[in-house]
Amino acid sequence: MKYVPEPFRIKMVETIKMTTREEREAKIKDAKYNLFNLKGEDVYIDLLTDSGTNAMSQEQWAGVMRGDEAYAGAKSYYKLVDAGRDIFGYQYIQPVHQGRAAEKVLFPAFLHKGQYAISNMFFDTTRAHVELAGARAVDCVVEEAKDPSRRCKFKGNMDVKKLKELIQEFGAENVGLVVMTITNNSAGGQPVSLENMRQVSEICRQYKIPLDIDAARYAENAYFIKRDEAGCENMSIKEIVRKTFSYADMFTMSAKKDTIVNMGGLIGVKDPEKNAELVSNIKANCISYEGFITYGGLAGRDLEALAIGLYEGLDENYLRYRIGQVEYLASRLDDAGIAYQSPAGGHGVFVDAAAMFPQIPYYEFPGQVLGIELYKEAGIRACDIGSYMLGNDPDTGEQLRSDFEFTRLAIPRRVYTQAHIDVMAEALIAIKERAHEIKHGYRITWEPPILRHFQAHLEPI
Ligand code: F0G
Repeated sequence: MKYVPEPFRIKMVETIKMTTREEREAKIKDAKYNLFNLKGEDVYIDLLTDSGTNAMSQEQWAGVMRGDEAYAGAKSYYKLVDAGRDIFGYQYIQPVHQGRAAEKVLFPAFLHKGQYAISNMFFDTTRAHVELAGARAVDCVVEEAKDPSRRCKFKGNMDVKKLKELIQEFGAENVGLVVMTITNNSAGGQPVSLENMRQVSEICRQYKIPLDIDAARYAENAYFIKRDEAGCENMSIKEIVRKTFSYADMFTMSAKKDTIVNMGGLIGVKDPEKNAELVSNIKANCISYEGFITYGGLAGRDLEALAIGLYEGLDENYLRYRIGQVEYLASRLDDAGIAYQSPAGGHGVFVDAAAMFPQIPYYEFPGQVLGIELYKEAGIRACDIGSYMLGNDPDTGEQLRSDFEFTRLAIPRRVYTQAHIDVMAEALIAIKERAHEIKHGYRITWEPPILRHFQAHLEPI
């Protein structure tokens, strides 16, 4: 596949350190085989996340200089609110410092002990906030998402039949919230169709359950809809975003992804007049946890960059390049017979580590094994999205078995070039050639009670 050329040129560069394999072997050992413990400067290509690792544009940097740092009522706040209203059609827009802050501020209004939240798939911090509110988080993605080799469109969709069954099983009054994650990060950055949004929205209305969009990658999702969903080819990205959001009641957003900034988050409520109590709750929680409502834990300059980034993320030429870059990497893996969650998703390639290391069981964490091999091979830092990330059952403490054992290569926006992408492909090809020689994975020697993958210590078995 041909690489889609960048619709920008580079004005400022950041030097990255080159290390030897011996140095990297020592560094990952010192990091207790946890990639989060590595120093960023010891990483050559950092694919740990696409979150907050994006390159801002000259317009955004100019906006940083214009940021209004007033404690209350800053100009940059009003600019952000106007952009949010214009793009999403939601009248209440609340900045917060990042996505999990949005969850922390919003979820307690809907979720309590004994209740359930159902999602096409929860991201790990989102799941944690459901559990911190006392509720249980249940995933309900379509079956085809669980087979990485099955190439079909909109593999991020909610299984609507199962959603209805779950609501009936739990009792509608016990389901506090339905969350649509677009794109579906944990399923491989797979998109959700407009039609699926409509159907989920209809079910939520029928059972009177509020519907929240986890909107971190809303623009990439809209690009997939435009390209792949019948009847949407002539809509603009902005029209598709509007339509998508019209089906929900509110959104929580990590703005560190598709809005191409380094820090920020948003909460949106479609109809604040009908939800006055909810908005008052959001404001109260925001003031307690994040800061006054017109800055929500962000500096004025962050609000300004975010307002600009909301529009830049919708640019179709940029999105074509962005998704094209991920697809180019996937096509190189196709040529080499390396399995991944296919087709490629929006923000990265999720390599099927269970297929690469069939000899390594889930409780020895194949996704983490491949992450560590990538670092040793080429200084690339990726991330396990599998049983290591999933953690233990909160009731029994037993290791859970994930539906997938992925190693995610998340691509930061506007940061790496085609040559970097080729380094990624070549490293994976080299590891695949010797994959059968790796007989064992890792065991955990220490772990915290929740979100353990960020901090746990491991050792080779
Ligand atoms: N929802 C989704 C779908 C996410 O992917 C993330 C973060 C969050 C919520 C939380 O947002 O980090 O701003 O607090 N995902 C990052 C990732 C960390 O690497 O995929 P946050």
